[in-house]
Amino acid sequence: MNNDIYILSVETSCDETSVAIFKNRQLLSHIITSSATHQSLYGGVVPEIASRYHEKNIVDCYLKAIKQANINQNQLTHIAYTAFPGLPGSLHVGKVFAKTIATILNIKCIEINHLHAHIFSATINNQITFPTIGLVLSGGETCLYLVRDFDDITTLNQTKDDAIGECYDKVAKVLGWKYPGGPVIDSNFDESKATISFIKPNPPYQDFSFSGLKTAIINYVHNLRQKNQEIDKIAVASSFQKFVIDDVIKKTKYYLDFYNLDSLIIGGGVCANRFLRKRLMGLAKTILIPQIIYCGDNAAMIGIYAYHLILNNKKSILIK
Ligand code: KG4
Repeated sequence: MNNDIYILSVETSCDETSVAIFKNRQLLSHIITSSATHQSLYGGVVPEIASRYHEKNIVDCYLKAIKQANINQNQLTHIAYTAFPGLPGSLHVGKVFAKTIATILNIKCIEINHLHAHIFSATINNQITFPTIGLVLSGGETCLYLVRDFDDITTLNQTKDDAIGECYDKVAKVLGWKYPGGPVIDSNFDESKATISFIKPNPPYQDFSFSGLKTAIINYVHNLRQKNQEIDKIAVASSFQKFVIDDVIKKTKYYLDFYNLDSLIIGGGVCANRFLRKRLMGLAKTILIPQIIYCGDNAAMIGIYAYHLILNNKKSILIK
């Protein structure tokens, strides 16, 4: 009897429409399309635009994924989709699509927690051992977790207000740079110019909070503009990035020490950041970092997490 599992995974939580196919833990195909260029006109994600693009693109992504994987859709044994968290309209498109395919093919449909999938994106190319500290830095969250198993994930620290990626986007916007702001700030970063102190750093055990910093930067820029003074954009962006990455490193180290752990796994769009990757070196003995393609929203991370859950007979935790 053939025990291979074929997982179709679907991600539609924000502005990326993505579909992947795994044969066991081998990624056979991965399609990502995004409405980001349409969103950049507005300086951020407009939920209605995101939902409409998912609706327009999802079937095409599916057909491409089947073709690239070189399988027949009847070989699929499971379908996994992002159930939570995300933009309600966008999530709905993925859910309806997944449930329809599952019904037509009479296969199991698995709900996946998007943030927890970010934790496991680095396991597409690596083996994980538990327990470990998980760090998710994305457009919608900033989280540190104690990860004891695929379904035993405790939140240690979570943003009280704006997520780190959101702050990257807002700071870039006030500087007149396009959405998404993270890559622009990353490529313009100059550590020697990170000299502006906007707010005081907070202690390592305190929750993540970046909205005070964001507001201080917006006020700083508006103030200079009102006085017709020149704004050193590189200095503002670099000082912002240095502050947030230092804060993330300090808090991650705090929890590694607190739980006496020497392993870390990271995920989320901001994990593509070069300064963050540099600063992570030496923080723990084992650090699992996803390839750049698996940092932002993508269906491969949904599929690999579903694979681990199926194999271990577990379910994704969906606390709403
Ligand atoms: O994980 P993701 O696709 O979104 C959510 O799941 O919410 O992350 C998107 C975020 C955006 O805010 C974007 O500006 C940021 O990731 N980002 C970066 C970099 N590349 C993307 N932030 C910092 N440095 C980067 N290189």
